[in-house]
Amino acid sequence: MRKRIVAGNWKMNNDLAETEVLLQELKKQVIPEKVSVLVAPSFTNLQHAFESLRDHPIAVAAQTMHQSDHGAFTGEVSAAMLKSVGVKTVILGHSERRAYFDEDNALLAEKVTTALRHEMTVIFCIGETLQERKQGHHVEVVTAQLEEGLFHISENHWQHIVLAYEPVWAIGTGETASPEQAQEMHKEIRNIVASSYSESIADKVSILYGGSVKPENAKEIFGQPDVDGGLIGGASLNARSFMEIVSAFL
Ligand code: PGA
Repeated sequence: MRKRIVAGNWKMNNDLAETEVLLQELKKQVIPEKVSVLVAPSFTNLQHAFESLRDHPIAVAAQTMHQSDHGAFTGEVSAAMLKSVGVKTVILGHSERRAYFDEDNALLAEKVTTALRHEMTVIFCIGETLQERKQGHHVEVVTAQLEEGLFHISENHWQHIVLAYEPVWAIGTGETASPEQAQEMHKEIRNIVASSYSESIADKVSILYGGSVKPENAKEIFGQPDVDGGLIGGASLNARSFMEIVSAFL
């Protein structure tokens, strides 16, 4: 059985005090044993979140990292820095990083290599824009994102990879892919992994759906056979709605 994962991407929200309030609220909730839950606060709050969640099943992830180990890269944070504050998982390739920070597939391939060298788990995001979907290019776009950004890794690295399919047109827009659209793409993504690697790797990798997941639609989306969880933005900023989404598997 594939790992079920729900990750909250807090993006550039919550200062230290707000982070603490949200963490305290989350810590009051019961986390279902069969779901791995992560939260990704901003860089400045990672250490605090890790310490606050030390004896708690919720894990902490970073929202991005630099591809180099150290050096003159003003404003950037390395894998070793993340690990030094307890963070072992990083989200790479989020569409906002691709769109606003010019992260292309080649750069993401470097980031993936660095993260894996530091034995981190990578939540690798892929997804097409509205225009690409309207033109019918969605499968092509996602295939290129996988082939150019991820498929240089060796077979044994797949145990440290989680995929997140996030159609850009559904992120923060209130517009969700229908459960059927999500299933169709998740199945397609699994087939792409199977044909470049193996059926067994494709069968084991968790593929999360992201894009306007809410308590009201989580059950139906998570009920699809190839959807193994979610990457949640807006709804993860509220402990109750986030936990309702986590519990949508039950
Ligand atoms: P959203 O964001 O849930 O607010 O649409 C999802 C994401 O960007 O990961």
